[in-house]
Amino acid sequence: MASIIDKRLSLHHRLAKKEQENSALKSQNLQLQALASLGSATSMIAHEINNLLTPLANYAALAVQNPDDRELAAKALDKTVRNCQRAARIMGSMLTMANGRKQQTSKANILAMVEEVFTCLCRDLGKDGITVRVQVPQDLELTCVPVQIQQVLMNLILNARDAMLPAGGILTIAASAADEHVELAVSDTGKGIAPEDIERVFQPFFTTKTEADRPAQGSGSGVGLAFCQRVAEAHAGRISVTSRLGEGTTFRLRLPKSRPEHR
Ligand SMILES: Nc1ncnc2c1ncn2[C@@H]1O[C@H](COP(=O)(O)OP(=O)(O)OP(=O)(O)O)[C@@H](O)[C@H]1O
Ligand SMILES: [Mg+2]
Repeated sequence: MASIIDKRLSLHHRLAKKEQENSALKSQNLQLQALASLGSATSMIAHEINNLLTPLANYAALAVQNPDDRELAAKALDKTVRNCQRAARIMGSMLTMANGRKQQTSKANILAMVEEVFTCLCRDLGKDGITVRVQVPQDLELTCVPVQIQQVLMNLILNARDAMLPAGGILTIAASAADEHVELAVSDTGKGIAPEDIERVFQPFFTTKTEADRPAQGSGSGVGLAFCQRVAEAHAGRISVTSRLGEGTTFRLRLPKSRPEHR
C-alpha cells in the first residue's frame, strides 16, 4: 500500500517538474519568436532605407557636381529632401509595425502615390530601355498607410526593372476598383520566374540574384517581397504573383478600399 502511495507521489512530482519545464520552454519560445520578428523587421527597415539611400546619394551628388546649374541643383536638392523625409517616415512606420502597434491610415490618391514613387527612383527607367505605362484612374483613392504602399510599389518596380535588364521592356502599373477592393498590378515583360521558384519568392531571404550576377547595385538580399507581403497583410489585403518564364511577371496587390486603422 505504502509503495503505491510513494509511486503516486513520485509521479505527481515528476509531472509537476515536467509542467514547469514545459512552461519555461514555452516562454523561451515566445522570446525567440519575438527576437526573430525583430530580426526580420530590422532587415526590412535596413532594406527600405537602402532603397531610398541610393537615389538620395545620387541626387545629392548631382547638386554638388552642378553648382552653377541652379535649376538642376535645386531640383536635385528637392528630391534629396523628399527622400530623406520618406526614409524617416518609413522607419517610423515600420518600427510601429514591428512593435505590433496600430497605425492610423489616411485616404490617398493612387495616381499621386505612383507618381511620387517614380520621382524617388534615382534613374530614369528609359535609360535602361524600359517604357513605363501608368494605367491608373485619376480619382481612384485608397485608405492606407501611404508610405508603406509606396515602398511596396517601389520594391515591385525595382524587381521588374531587374527582371528586364539589360534588354529593356515594358513596365505597366495599373489600378482598378471592384466591390470594396482596390487592385494594384505591376507587370513587366522581363525574364519571368521559374515554376520551381514561384512558391518561394515571398519567403524572407529568398533571392536568385547572386553577387556575380546582380542586376543593380544594392539589390539581392531577398527581403523586398517578404516586406511587400507583410504590408499587404497589415492592410488586411494580399499580394499574389503570376509569371511565365521568358515572357514576364505580374504582381497583384489587392486591398480593402477603406480601413480606419491597420496592424
Ligand atoms: N518581376 C520579377 N521578375 C522575375 N523574378 C522576380 C520578379 N520579382 C521577384 N522575382 C524573383 O523573386 C526573388 C525575390 O524577390 P525579392 O524582391 O524578395 O528579393 P530580391 O529582389 O532578390 O532582393 P532585394 O529585394 O532584397 O533587393 C528575386 O530574387 C527573383 O528571383
Ligand atoms: Mg527585390
